[in-house]
Parts: sequence; C-alpha cells; structure tokens
Amino acid sequence: MDAKTNDKKTSRRSFIRTAGALGAGAYLASGVTPGKAAANPRKAQALALNGGPKAVTAPAADSTKWPLYGEEEIQTVVELLKNPNYGPVAEFEEAWKAYQGCPYVKAHCNGTSALTSMLFALQLPPGSEILVPNYSTWFPVVPMRFFELVPVFVDCDPKTMNIDVEDCKRRLTARTRAIMPVHWYGLPCEMDAIDAFAKEHGLDVVEDASHAHGARVNDVLIGNWSRIAGFSLQTTKPLPSIEGGVAIYKNRDDFELATTYGNYDLPNTFPEDSPYRKYQGTALGSKLRIHPVSAILARIQLKGLDARNSAGTAQIKRLNDRITQLPGLAEQYIRPGIQRVFYSRNLMFIDEQKAGMSREAAVRALRAEGVDVVEYKWTLLHTYPIFSESRWWRHMPVLPTEESIPGCHEANRTAISLPYWTSDQPELVEQYANAFEKVWAHRDSLG
Ligand SMILES: Cc1ncc(COP(=O)(O)O)c(C=O)c1O
Repeated sequence: MDAKTNDKKTSRRSFIRTAGALGAGAYLASGVTPGKAAANPRKAQALALNGGPKAVTAPAADSTKWPLYGEEEIQTVVELLKNPNYGPVAEFEEAWKAYQGCPYVKAHCNGTSALTSMLFALQLPPGSEILVPNYSTWFPVVPMRFFELVPVFVDCDPKTMNIDVEDCKRRLTARTRAIMPVHWYGLPCEMDAIDAFAKEHGLDVVEDASHAHGARVNDVLIGNWSRIAGFSLQTTKPLPSIEGGVAIYKNRDDFELATTYGNYDLPNTFPEDSPYRKYQGTALGSKLRIHPVSAILARIQLKGLDARNSAGTAQIKRLNDRITQLPGLAEQYIRPGIQRVFYSRNLMFIDEQKAGMSREAAVRALRAEGVDVVEYKWTLLHTYPIFSESRWWRHMPVLPTEESIPGCHEANRTAISLPYWTSDQPELVEQYANAFEKVWAHRDSLG
C-alpha cells in the first residue's frame, strides 16, 4: 500500500472496470442455485484438484512483504549510526502522543514490556482477577504472575474472535478488577459495550492494542478507550519497528509508575512533586528501554499508518464483499461504528452446513487453485502448561471448562486464514474471488 514500494502499474480504476464485468459475483450473477450446473459459468471450469487450470496464476511473491521501509528510514538510521544517541526515543513518543491525542506515552523495548509495565502501574492487590480473552496471546498474561494477578480466561464471540462480553459477565467475581480486550487481527472489540460493562462493575479497562494501530470504535481510536493501552511494534504489526512497543496513559501516576518500572534513568525527569523521583538509578523493575533504531522506524512508519491501513482494508473489502456472497462464507463480523484495520492475515469463517462442504474440502480445493489459505486453529490460552502449574503462581489462573468456551471451539472449527496483501494486488484480488466462486460452484461434488 506504500506508494514508494508499489511497483505494480495496473491502475486500480482499470481493475475495478474488469472486476465489475467479470466479477460482481459471477456465481450469483448466473442466477442459478447450486446444482443447476449448466447456467453457472464457474461450474464449466474443472477444479484444479481434478486437473483443471488453476484460478490463481498471478505472482504472489512480494504481495505480503512486510515491513516496507524506504529511503527515509534508511537515511535516518544511517545518521544515528554516525551519531549514536537516544534522541529518537522522545521524538517517537511525541509523534505517537500527537497521533493518539493522549497525555502520556512511553515507548518500550517490545509490546510485552509495554504491557508488563502497564500491569505494574495498576498496583492491584494480590489475587486481583483480570478478565482476558482465551482466544489470544500469552504475552500480557504470563507477566501477571510477577504481580500476583489472576488471569480469568473468557470465551470469544465466534463471529469476531474477540472477547465475549456476555461471558465476562458470567465470570465476574468480587475479586475482578480489570478487563483486557485484545483486537484480534485488527478487528476492534466492542469497546463501547466493554466500557459500559467496566463502568457498571468498577473495573479498569486495560487494552492490548497490539494488532490494531489506527483502528476506531465510534470514531475513538483504539487505545483511547482505556485507562492504559499497550501496543506491540514488532515486525509483523501494523506499525512495525522490527522490535519495539509503546503504551499510552491517561493518568500521570500510571505513566510515572510504568516508566519507573522499566527506566532507571527517567525518574528525575518527572515533576518535583513526583513520589517516584527517588527511584532514579534503580528503577522499580527491569530495563525496558526501546532501541533508538526502533524508535526511528516507528516514527517514520507512523506518517503512513492511516494511508496504509485504509488502502489495505479497502483492498480486502473488495475481495470479501464479493466472496461473502457465497453461501456459508463470512468475514470477521464488523459491527456498525467499527473501523477495523488488518494485521497480517484476513480471517474468515466457513459454515460447513450452509456451504454444503467441509472446511477441509474447501481449503484443499482452494489451495489446488493456488489460493494461499489454511484452516486456522489458534492454540487456546488455557491449554498452555504454565497456566495450570501451581509452581509459577501465587494465585492460580482461573481456567475455563471445555464446555464453557463454545465460542473458542466454534472459531477453531470454522476459521480459515487468507493473506493480507501489503501492496496493490488487483490481479490477485480478482483471481482469488474467481477461485472461491469456482470452488463454490463445485461444492455439491466437494461435499
Ligand atoms: C496480541 C499481542 N499482544 C502482545 C504481543 C507482544 O508484543 P511483542 O512481540 O512486541 O512483545 C503480541 C505479539 O505478537 C500480540 O500479538
């Protein structure tokens, strides 16, 4: 999506014209119900699985290349190497503060350290429970043990893969203190509902926003819904700095505590009345400073973040709008008011009954057509040994029973993963749509 790295000369306008004529759902445009083969042009084409020609022939080699760095990043890093200094850290923090429109920002050496410092800043009493999505990563959950906090694993909504607010209500106890939404693959959680739920029960919202830089709910940027939000800047993320992290804080006290946790050299930059100035020289935890190269990359990448997000999202929308017309195929549900971004892959779901074939059969046929698709199955957090071994916890995590997480199981039964193209790929969009329509036209035989 980055103009400087986009060397495809096919114009989007010409792509839209071709796609309009050929595409616009040839499967549906045929006006036939499955089984009435003759009228469906896709059905006349033999599946690649059965020796027919592949639907996807366009080269895909660089289509998902990421990150995309250019001359400005290269030159600025070279300047740093000639004159090593930490100045880029504050420059990036100022830029991120301006982008998010928030009062306090601290950059960290990675997303995990941003989220760990955030947990420290909460200063919750030992045994406090935090509602976390079971369909997510361990990065912000494992460090809870350092602070004697208790992760409580919550089911996901199988249509979004995000934390299920209804299930949060069921898992609420007198010890619940916070909820940690994660915006899976760039699809924001229903932050307004989470905010209302948190307010009703006096909980803090602390966001792991590592997949959703620049996404919004009701025009509010992801990160700004919470007391504290942490972002990964790791190489695959929408704002990539190869390895880095950043957190935003609404309260001065949270900011100073989190900063003191991971920075021995910053407490004496706090105002005179700060109770944390005395920890200059020792910090309160570890040393989690971001590398200035990473800060340079993040600051420069930030300039193009919104443009990259909207071009990438628009391209996926062109594909998804077309293929979600096929029976039993759905994308991660985007509720009105939600402005999503994409991180790394385009996740979709196959309802086997409606599709009339198994996910496995559809994926096999699509792969034969040249589609980069796999059955997507996330390792559910509660299954990792660390969460059930008392040796590592003062207060044991609250694990769900298998029956109490139907959403997680449904997501794992139905999801498929498609590429997120990071440059303009009109041919691939067209050919992927054709491949899906072709496979669906043969779904009676595949079923
Ligand atoms: C949802 C989520 N949270 C946190 C992290 C941790 O970020 P980092 O790898 O920068 O430490 C990741 C990393 O992939 C992630 O996907």
